[in-house]
Amino acid sequence: MKNIIIMPSILSADFSIMKEQLNDVKQAGADAIHCDIMDGHFVPNITFGPGFIEACAKVCDLPFYVHLMIENPDQYLAAFAKPKNVVEIGVHEEACVHLHRTVQNIKALGKRACVALNPHTPASNLDYILDDLDAVLVMTVNPGFGGQKFIESQLRKIEEIRKEADRRGLDLDIQVDGGVDGITSKKIAVAGANMFVAGSYVFTNKTLSMKEAIKSLR
Ligand code: DX5
Ligand code: ZN
Repeated sequence: MKNIIIMPSILSADFSIMKEQLNDVKQAGADAIHCDIMDGHFVPNITFGPGFIEACAKVCDLPFYVHLMIENPDQYLAAFAKPKNVVEIGVHEEACVHLHRTVQNIKALGKRACVALNPHTPASNLDYILDDLDAVLVMTVNPGFGGQKFIESQLRKIEEIRKEADRRGLDLDIQVDGGVDGITSKKIAVAGANMFVAGSYVFTNKTLSMKEAIKSLR
C-alpha cells in the first residue's frame, strides 16, 4: 500500500488572503497543493493562470500539482513548469489530440506527468500511455466547479486502473478529484487510490477545522 497524500485544491480557497490560506493548510497537515487551471473552453469556468501559481509557489514550499482543464495545454506547459516546487503537470485525455507527445513534453520539462479522465472516459483509453505516466487523475465529478456530488460509478474505474498498474508492475499514483470528503475518501482508498484532492471539504467546511478535515481524509 502506498502512503496517502492529501492535496487541498486552492480552487476553494479565499484568493484575497492566499498567503495565509496556504500557510494555514500547510500547518493543518496538507502534503501538497492542487491547482485547478480552467480556461472557459474545456470547462465552463475560468480560474487563474501561471502568474498566480508562481506567486503561490513563492510563498509556500509544499509541492504543487497543476491540473490543467484547458484546451491546447502544450502551449502553456513551460509557463506552468517555471516554479521549482511545481512537481507535476496533469492534462486531460479529452483535451489532447497527441497525448503521447504532450506527456513527453511534460517530462522533458522535468515534471511528473499525470493524465486526468473525465467521468465518461474509460480507463482503457490509457492503455498505450499508462507505462509513461507518473499518475492518473480520476475525476469523480464533471470538471469545472468545486462542491459537486461524488460520482460513485468512478470507483470501478479506480479499481481497474490500480489492477492494471499492478499487473504491469508500475509504481503509479492514482489521484481522485471531486466530492472527496471524510466518507468518500474511505471508498476511494479501498478502490486503490492513494492521492486525494479536496477543495470545499478543506477550505469551506462548515463543521470541521482545516486540521480536522485533513485528519478525517487521512
Ligand atoms: C473540479 C476541480 C477540483 C475541485 C474539487 O473541476 O478539478 O479540484 O477543486 O472540489 P471539491 O473537492 O469541492 O469537489
Ligand atoms: Zn482538480
